[in-house]
Amino acid sequence: MSDLSELESRASAELAASADEGALRAWNTKYFGKDGEIPTALKRVGSVPPDERKSYGQNANRIKEALSTAYNAALSSAKERALEQSLATEKLDVSLPGRPTPRGRLHPSTRTLRLIYSIFADMGFQVYRSRDVEDDETNFGLLNMPLHHPARDMWDTFHTTTPGVLLRTHTSPGQIHVMRELCPSPIRVILPGMCYRYEQITPRSEIMFHQVEGLAVGRGISMTDLKGTVIAFARRLFGEERQIRIRSSYFPFTEPSIEVDIDWPKEDPNADRLTKGTGWLEIMGAGMVHPTVLRNGGYNPAEFSGFAFGMGPERITMLRHAIDDIRQFWANDLRFLRQF
Ligand code: DAH
Repeated sequence: MSDLSELESRASAELAASADEGALRAWNTKYFGKDGEIPTALKRVGSVPPDERKSYGQNANRIKEALSTAYNAALSSAKERALEQSLATEKLDVSLPGRPTPRGRLHPSTRTLRLIYSIFADMGFQVYRSRDVEDDETNFGLLNMPLHHPARDMWDTFHTTTPGVLLRTHTSPGQIHVMRELCPSPIRVILPGMCYRYEQITPRSEIMFHQVEGLAVGRGISMTDLKGTVIAFARRLFGEERQIRIRSSYFPFTEPSIEVDIDWPKEDPNADRLTKGTGWLEIMGAGMVHPTVLRNGGYNPAEFSGFAFGMGPERITMLRHAIDDIRQFWANDLRFLRQF
């Protein structure tokens, strides 16, 4: 009996001293576990003299019930305290204004390119990508400029250390790739991409810039189709009232070759400077695909014809946003880029 009351007071004192859930669970194992002190005390009932057995048993059971009730109460209040504490320390004020994440933005050239894609998409042109590193043959030869052809001088070229491998000077070699891939199907694509020229960098010329090439090949395509396509494009890009003007020009890969101007609104204070007083502004080179180029692409020029054009999105962006220095595009000056 005295063992039992010693057990009760010791267990109660240790329970009271168990501060958190971990300590409480350790206490529970010690007293109520498989070989814990309470089951052991209960088992001892058999070795107690018969006349004390009944009261020993009753007493042991009472202690067991009392300790188990006290344990459960202590455990639930320990859990509650832990929860309150974590709520207090990890509190989140959802009404606080968020910390702004700096957002990037699209480069002005990308914005213009996407606009161009969407206008041509509406006219059924798909985007075709071709490589930046070209061979001499595709950049020049297959475009009707054999070695030593004087027209090659129109494009100052970055050559690599591998003979015959260069950075494309224009997107026109993409015409050869797309024709060879799709021949003999009709073609209606635009070919956007970066071009490279070994030039003096000035406010008006850069060594790298985008071009968007266009190519349509099929049966019965004529200059009228080119004209209609270009005027629809110019009106979507620059306004419904736009007129275009076609001047004859020369490119080795088109015959006839033209340059396309659009009229520039006289109300624009920059009109005189942009158009050099003429009221017209050049937006692209174009023409009917030369029979030799069609043949190099796999098409029989007696059966197929096509038109092509090439324009500069940076130039278009400069017009749309009155940017007066092309070097801004690749300078990565955030003060410039943040304006768009
Ligand atoms: N490739 C020419 C250039 O870089 C632009 C051009 C002119 C592309 C006429 C064409 C075209 O497709 O038909 O100056």
